[in-house]
Amino acid sequence: MSRRTEKPFWDPDKLQAQFNTESLGKRLIVFNRITSTNDFLKRLARRGAEAGTLVLADQQTAGRGRLGRSWQSPPGVGLWLSFILRPELSLETAGALPLAVSVVVAETLSAICGEPFSAKWPNDILANNRKICGILCETQISPAAGLVGGSNQLDYVVAGIGINVNQRSRDFSSDWRRRATSLAMIAGHPFDRQNVLVTLVQHLDKALFANLPQEMPALLSRWRALCPELGKSIVLRQAQTTITGIFDDVGEGGELILRLADGQRKAYSAGEVSLVQK
Ligand code: BTN
Repeated sequence: MSRRTEKPFWDPDKLQAQFNTESLGKRLIVFNRITSTNDFLKRLARRGAEAGTLVLADQQTAGRGRLGRSWQSPPGVGLWLSFILRPELSLETAGALPLAVSVVVAETLSAICGEPFSAKWPNDILANNRKICGILCETQISPAAGLVGGSNQLDYVVAGIGINVNQRSRDFSSDWRRRATSLAMIAGHPFDRQNVLVTLVQHLDKALFANLPQEMPALLSRWRALCPELGKSIVLRQAQTTITGIFDDVGEGGELILRLADGQRKAYSAGEVSLVQK
């Protein structure tokens, strides 16, 4: 069978009927194999694809994470998906989108699995201190923003979600093994990926497509409740520097607010957080 006529691993029509959503997945594209669902969807978004367009793949051959890292996306075991958002958010508040997506995913997985999940700033979901899900939100500013007098506006965001569902420890490469986990490893039994997907898509549709600007403060409060590092002494590692302080809060734009030793509060928009070991 040629690649063009290969049957998709999930039937898009059946999936859409199960989704029964208002926006997310109204346009659905399913691949057996693709380089990266984010890369594919960014090309569609640039050409004007509507908010809610959803791309799923059974396997990614060049799945990407934050900071240029790769994301292992083998076939048959995970959920690798991306969707377009075109929310009426300022560029500043759009920075909070990875946290908003994280909280919806973490709460959904927790409800499915019956175990608690935590959020790690800015875009990770952890179980037993190991990563179970990564989120990559890629933002495009509208072309008018570059013109003199043009206001900075958001054009679209492609939100990519990678969830380890049925991997066993030996399925991860040796460098991931100590840091990664899956729903099956946490619960002690495998999950039907399609059921997990349908529940997740329904929750994302309700939380992110109905009235996002108004919902954002509540989503951030829910995110705070899932973040164990909040209020604790942390180290924030950036490319060139390491900063230590108390993780005081997250701002409206999802930035990490640190209270430094001299009492100053400073906001950071990038870096890796870890707890100070006592
Ligand atoms: C991270 O942990 O840094 C983010 C990982 C995001 C992975 C997902 S899988 C679906 C989508 N396509 C990609 O290439 N990346 C995201």
